[in-house]
This record gives sequence, C-alpha cells and structure tokens, in this order.
Amino acid sequence: MTTVLLTGATGYIGSHTWLALQEAGFSVVGLDNFSNSSPEVLKRLHELSGVAPVFERASITDAAAMEAVFSRHRIDAVVHFAASKAVGESGAQPLAYYANNIGGLVTTCEAMRRHGVKTMVFSSSATVYGDPKYLPYDEAHPLSAMNVYGRTKLYGEQILRDLEASDPAWKIAWLRYFNPVGAHESGRIGEDPRGVPNNLMPYVTQVAVGRREFLQVFGGDYDTVDGTGVRDYLHVVDLAEGHVAALRHLLDQRRSLTVNLGAGHGHSVLQLVRAFERASGRPVPYRIVDRRPGDLPAFWADATLARQQLGWQTRRDLETMCADSWRWQQANPNGFDC
Ligand code: UD1
Repeated sequence: MTTVLLTGATGYIGSHTWLALQEAGFSVVGLDNFSNSSPEVLKRLHELSGVAPVFERASITDAAAMEAVFSRHRIDAVVHFAASKAVGESGAQPLAYYANNIGGLVTTCEAMRRHGVKTMVFSSSATVYGDPKYLPYDEAHPLSAMNVYGRTKLYGEQILRDLEASDPAWKIAWLRYFNPVGAHESGRIGEDPRGVPNNLMPYVTQVAVGRREFLQVFGGDYDTVDGTGVRDYLHVVDLAEGHVAALRHLLDQRRSLTVNLGAGHGHSVLQLVRAFERASGRPVPYRIVDRRPGDLPAFWADATLARQQLGWQTRRDLETMCADSWRWQQANPNGFDC
C-alpha cells in the first residue's frame, strides 16, 4: 500500500483530501501543529472513514521532529498543505510567513531527501498569476505576486523547480488552487476559520447561522456582471479528488506537472449569495462597502490542462457547494468547538 504523508492534514483542504486518499486506497499519515485547526478533526475523520487516524503532532519548521516522522513511518510521497494563508496577516508578519511557508517547505524537503522520498504534491494558488494579463488564467500566464502570502507561494514554487532541476528523480505536482468552498456531504468536516473569516463563504455561512449580522460585500462598482468581484469557486471535495489524481499521475507516469485546479468559470459575490440563500432557505443580509485593498475584480481558471493531463474536472455545482457549506455550518454553528 502506498503511504502518503499529509502536512497540514487537519486543515480545511487537508482533512477532505485525507478522506479522498483513503477512499482511493492510499494509506495516510497526517501531520499538523493545530496552529489553524482542531484535534476534533481527527475524531471526525475516524468516524467518517472507520479507520483510526495515524497522526503526528509536529511543526514542519521543526527539523528534528520532521526527521523523527520520516524515521517512524515508511513514507512514499508527501502532499504538502501546511502553510499560513491570510493575506493581511502576511503583510504584518512577513517573517512568520517566510519561516512557515518557505522555511517549513525547505525543512520538509530536506527530511524527504534524507529518506529518499522524492514525490511531492504542492499547494500553490492562483494568486501566483498576479494581475491578469488575460483571462482565463492558463498555466502559461506570467507569474507575479501581489502580497507577502503570494510571494511565499511563488518562491515556494521556484524552490521546488530548482530542486527538480538538481535531481530529476524528484516528481512534483504544482497545483494552483482557485477558490475552494463547500464541505464534506456528511456535514461532519468543513471550513472552520479562527476569528473573523477573511474569505467569502465562511463569512456568508456565519451570517446565515446568526453569528454575524450582515455580509460586507467588498466593492459594487467593478466591471463585472453585477459590479461585485468574480471568482472561480470549486467544491473542496472536487479539489481533494484533484490531489488524488495528481498523486496518481506522479506515481504512475513519473512526470511532474503544473496545473490549475478550478471549475473554469466564475461567479460574482452576489451570485454566490443568491445561490446560498436558495440552498439554505436563509436570508443573507449584506451591505456593499468599499473595495478591499489588493482585491482583483475578476479571475477564473482555464481548467483544460487538468482535464487533459489528469482526467480531472469539477463535478459539483454552485448549488451543491452552498448546500454542503450550509449543512456543515448549521450542524456545527461554532465549527469544531463543540
Ligand atoms: C483570498 C486571497 C488569496 C488567497 C485566498 C485563499 C486576498 C486579496 N486574496 O482570495 O490570495 O489565496 O483568499 O485564502 O485576500 N468578499 C466579500 N466580502 C467578504 C469576503 C470576500 O465581498 O467578507 C469578496 C472578495 O472581494 C472577492 C470574493 O468575495 O471578490 C472572494 O474573496 P475571498 O474568499 O477572500 O477570496 P480571494 O480574494 O479570491
């Protein structure tokens, strides 16, 4: 059985990918330091999969701890989610972001190299495309970063390209995520941000469940269908399945790849709000306020390459994303803090 180490395993995307990998027949070792997730996730994963999670509590920045993890388990490949991802915070705490997103990546790769593990799936982001020169973004679009968080992803990509160039035994999948939303259909795991959510969907669900009074829509005067920002939302379970497809590609084809993981079309903030109201039967009061500094008006993926290379495409529509986000939030109004 192929054993995969997931860093950031109890986070939002990590936890859904854990289940998807198990369903696909992989054995999983999860690793997290709970800096932005809850141990309760492990109980839920156990309940959903029927398998007791194999888990290591450790920081990817702790070289000794990473060495111990690779010594204890026979790892075949790594899916590297662990990173910090709040854009505003990244500007205020650049060293913390570089230490975790870059230092942690290097520490993880060093432990892998020492143990002869040279297969990695890397969580990148559509943020590496920067200001759109054209849309949709395809993988050949020029790269640039608009904030510290974006730079950590851009530099992270480059570090792995240098590593692959130094030793072609490395097989790496650079996955550029668009905007993941939704939750596992059971409603037992989902997105549980700490504090005030930065991202749209968790804010919407917290308004619907009564934790927040109204949604602030950041900007109503963009040159888009209704003036609000447009993004490429994809269901987190589709995204998780994209990781399984990418890992299989690396293991079977022995070829690296760089692909967008997105739906291939965009929805505006108000389109998402309306879809959510329909799916939940709850009103989502909102006010249009100033644009959020640093936001782009609109972007979405060219999702052709993932279909061609991985046979992967999104299967769950916006209604499903909203219904599943709502099921999760309604059953867990305070997230994993129950
Ligand atoms: C944001 C980050 C991006 C990061 C991603 C994942 C910024 C500028 N971008 O993406 O780098 O990879 O999160 O963490 O922070 N919106 C509202 N009200 C809200 C929240 C969002 O109107 O309370 C709007 C935004 O203006 C945008 C859309 O909803 O048009 C999506 O926002 P968000 O979920 O934060 O995602 P991104 O900005 O695409």
